[in-house]
Amino acid sequence: MTTPQASQAAVLCGLGAVLPPRVVRNDELCAGLDTTDEWIRSRTGIRERRIAAAEVSTADLAVAAAARALESTGSTDVDAVVLATTTPDHLMPATAPSVAALLGLTGTAAFDVAAVCTGFVYALATAAGLITTRTARTVLVVGADRMSQLPAADDRTTRPLFADGAGAVVLRSGTATEPGALGPMVLGSDGAHRDLLVVPHGGHMQMQGPDLFRHAVDRMSAVTRQAVQLARWRLADVDRIVPHQANARITAAVGRHLAIDADRRVQNIEYVGNTGAASIPLALAQASADGTLQRGHRVCLTAFGAGLTWGATTLTWPDLKPAAHPAHDTPMERT
Ligand code: ACO
Repeated sequence: MTTPQASQAAVLCGLGAVLPPRVVRNDELCAGLDTTDEWIRSRTGIRERRIAAAEVSTADLAVAAAARALESTGSTDVDAVVLATTTPDHLMPATAPSVAALLGLTGTAAFDVAAVCTGFVYALATAAGLITTRTARTVLVVGADRMSQLPAADDRTTRPLFADGAGAVVLRSGTATEPGALGPMVLGSDGAHRDLLVVPHGGHMQMQGPDLFRHAVDRMSAVTRQAVQLARWRLADVDRIVPHQANARITAAVGRHLAIDADRRVQNIEYVGNTGAASIPLALAQASADGTLQRGHRVCLTAFGAGLTWGATTLTWPDLKPAAHPAHDTPMERT
């Protein structure tokens, strides 16, 4: 009699993230904008954010985060690079091949995924598909964005929110029962609401904040429930929810809907703002660095973004070395 084999899965085995060194506190931002530190803090939770220097590209941020993630695995052996970004360096080609080349991975499959703030979860699902179809054994998944360039300089509703950063994970082929194995993915979109957050060709970001807020809370709550259910967990079993960091009030409202208290919600928006596709891997790296994420924790990643798009997945946190804190000794300081 043969023992049935556990099904194949993508397993998280590396993590790294970086923030650009320049800190812009609310007070500095307010100097040129009709807003206040008090308004930004109380309505969004953001105190400061990191803004990349003009000469730092999305590829530069992605490479710095990816290098950290690869370093944490002790190997540069990857078969594909999937980059989630809303701020590619060029309209064409995609930014991922540049990232691969800068990492010395010339010849490796590399492409971008565009799903705005849900991009990282879409990229994880894409990478998991590459692994389970045996197209790749190891995939580098990066979320990198320079979101700060999208709002108009005088737009007080969007400029305080958006900022820059990058995070990356390495996924390898493994089995669904191992710690680190990504659970079932739930992805969705509704383009009928595309106008709620849009950057028209050649223009600046336009956002209908309150409507977007309501959709974000509803969609993230629903997709989290679905992913947890598909993993055969209960919401009460979730040790850490790692939501896309769009607004501290959105995260709190999702927590209320799902009865997940603040201790179980990973939050770093205070110091980073909304970093688009980088948001979840940045939060993961920070939580790994400060011990908020521990081996054996049941974790749910959940995201919502323009499109509209949404997505979630689950994993049991593996036995990873704690990540370097994204704000410490950032390689960006040396460029
Ligand atoms: N400073 C001072 N006043 C402001 C500011 C500001 N920075 N921004 C807006 N206001 C004013 C408005 O003009 C309005 O004034 P009025 O009442 O005189 O008209 C008042 O504050 C209230 O405005 P609202 O837009 O209702 O404020 P709200 O509490 O909803 O907060 C915010 C706005 C922070 C944008 C919020 O709606 C939000 O976070 N929305 C969701 C964003 C989101 O979900 N993003 C996820 C997707 S991100 C992605 O995919 C890239």
